[in-house]
Amino acid sequence: MLQEIAPIGVRPSTLTGLSERMVVSHFENNYGNAVRALNAVHRELATLDADRPPHRLRGLKREELSLMGSVTLHELYFGNLGGFRRAGPNSGLGRPDWHDVPDALAAEIAADFGSASAWRREFVGTAQSLAGGSGWVLLTYSRRQKRFWNQIATDHTQAAVDAAPVLVLDMYEHAYQMDFGANATAYIDTFIRNINWDTVLKRTKAARNDQPPPNEDPSSTADMPSLSVGGSDGGRDVARSGSRRGVDRRADAGQAGGRLLLLRLRRRAQRDEDAHRARLRRALRPRRHRGVVRLGRRARAAAGRRVAHDSAAGE
Ligand SMILES: [Fe+2]
Repeated sequence: MLQEIAPIGVRPSTLTGLSERMVVSHFENNYGNAVRALNAVHRELATLDADRPPHRLRGLKREELSLMGSVTLHELYFGNLGGFRRAGPNSGLGRPDWHDVPDALAAEIAADFGSASAWRREFVGTAQSLAGGSGWVLLTYSRRQKRFWNQIATDHTQAAVDAAPVLVLDMYEHAYQMDFGANATAYIDTFIRNINWDTVLKRTKAARNDQPPPNEDPSSTADMPSLSVGGSDGGRDVARSGSRRGVDRRADAGQAGGRLLLLRLRRRAQRDEDAHRARLRRALRPRRHRGVVRLGRRARAAAGRRVAHDSAAGE
């Protein structure tokens, strides 16, 4: 029973504020590794014989649960991205116009939180409480209690029994460190701006009406191309532990010309890296400049004497 790596649920180039490089790395390395590790656990479970030590089986079953959670939560996380809305002049965390929840979703969740704003405050506050730590923040529907609630899931496992996550936020550092450093608040703000509320609403209605989760495989629609990891059969791939060839955008290319798009993706990743280095240089340059100005004429004269001395010493 091999777990497949699903195509990523969002086209990374449609995101704003979350770099394609970071999202692709997250998908390839963190989600991909979870799938590969899960398959390794399944293979090991399949070969255990009857006289296996109990602690070995216990350890594998715990690992299996954690990895299954990681795989599913990552798929839901990527799937609820892609609905970028531009921030208004008075937008930003805590400001009056900050990213309104669409009316249709507000109607679904208001009864359980008092208002959509109250839900949003708690969801964001819960995410901020994980800054510098790790875990998932979920808006979840409990089928048993028939209500929505926000929850933290650490170790990929602490979801409530018989509950359906409808909005998933990855607060592990690998989800934001590359773009935001330690600034988790900026990441949360950017995440909220990129939420695909249509997807969240579909999940919400399915959970409330006891229906199966909606099909979010982007390869099932013509208008939502996807990435896959080392794909070999049209956008899906059986997970394996060998080295990967890179990101395949054959869905973007309509199953043809994938190499060209792969090349473009690599170039774009390089441009992202160059831009990041340029930003770093710009951030450092003014500080050096201010230092020279503050030292003034005397320091420049001293520097000149040092240069003259070094030149004389070199001769
Ligand atoms: Fe992650």
